[in-house]
Amino acid sequence: MMAVRSRAFENREHRRYWWHKNPSRKYVPPAYALLTDAEWDVLEEWYDETERHNMVGECTVPLVSIVQGFVGGSGITRIVQCGHYVGYSTLMLGFLLRHMGRKQSLFSIDIDPLANSVSQRWVDRAQLNEQVHLELGDSSDLSMPARATKYLGGTPQLVIIDSSHEYHHTIRELNLWYDVIPPHAMILLHDTSIFAAPFDSGKNGGVRQALADWAKGKPVAVLNLNESFKSGDGNDLVYADPCGIGLIHKLA
Ligand SMILES: C[S@@+](CC[C@H](N)C(=O)[O-])C[C@H]1O[C@@H](n2cnc3c(N)ncnc32)[C@H](O)[C@@H]1O
Repeated sequence: MMAVRSRAFENREHRRYWWHKNPSRKYVPPAYALLTDAEWDVLEEWYDETERHNMVGECTVPLVSIVQGFVGGSGITRIVQCGHYVGYSTLMLGFLLRHMGRKQSLFSIDIDPLANSVSQRWVDRAQLNEQVHLELGDSSDLSMPARATKYLGGTPQLVIIDSSHEYHHTIRELNLWYDVIPPHAMILLHDTSIFAAPFDSGKNGGVRQALADWAKGKPVAVLNLNESFKSGDGNDLVYADPCGIGLIHKLA
């Protein structure tokens, strides 16, 4: 059973399975290997249903693997996610938090009522309601940090931004969440490469430009993996996601 899991994805047509088609990745990634058979069954059903309804927009194995490494490796239990879409990263984090024996550990925000209701149905189906709270709204709304802090029982240790991809909205999210996280906490941003800049509907340089401009002069350490990746299939990048990932570490 375990040996098959996501190995079967390399034979599927949809472009969402690009990670699994790389010849150097003929294995079940650790992020999926840790799931129970019942959890994997839920995730596989999630893939099938979201593909049937053309609801494809999830982050992929490289990003969830980084998040799971931080969370599982350090026992992080107060997490905010900006943008959950139809639930992939939410299910993956929820499963891990349950394996860690934690409750009320992921507060996730999305502005799209349909995406939010689909995610909620999958959180219910996976029985992750003790670990995860889904919030319908704007992740730059000034009321969100207080709500998240109340639910999590403390200020967020990790904020994951994978939402609008718009320059100005990303700046607002960074300002909002940076103010409430404690020193040594982290903010992760998806889609920080040049390749991902066109995801900004306002054409202002997207998450990459927002991260670069926002960080100037702030007491933070910043790493932007694959920032310079522009085009091509990106399938052999060392960090395998061509969309890039940004890491902000708050120093003081
Ligand atoms: C790329 S998807 C997130 C994928 C998700 N992290 C995953 O891996 O499964 C981006 C999501 O951000 C949401 N979004 C866009 N603008 C937003 C905003 N202003 N506030 C909150 N969510 C927003 C969209 O509705 C969409 O569902």
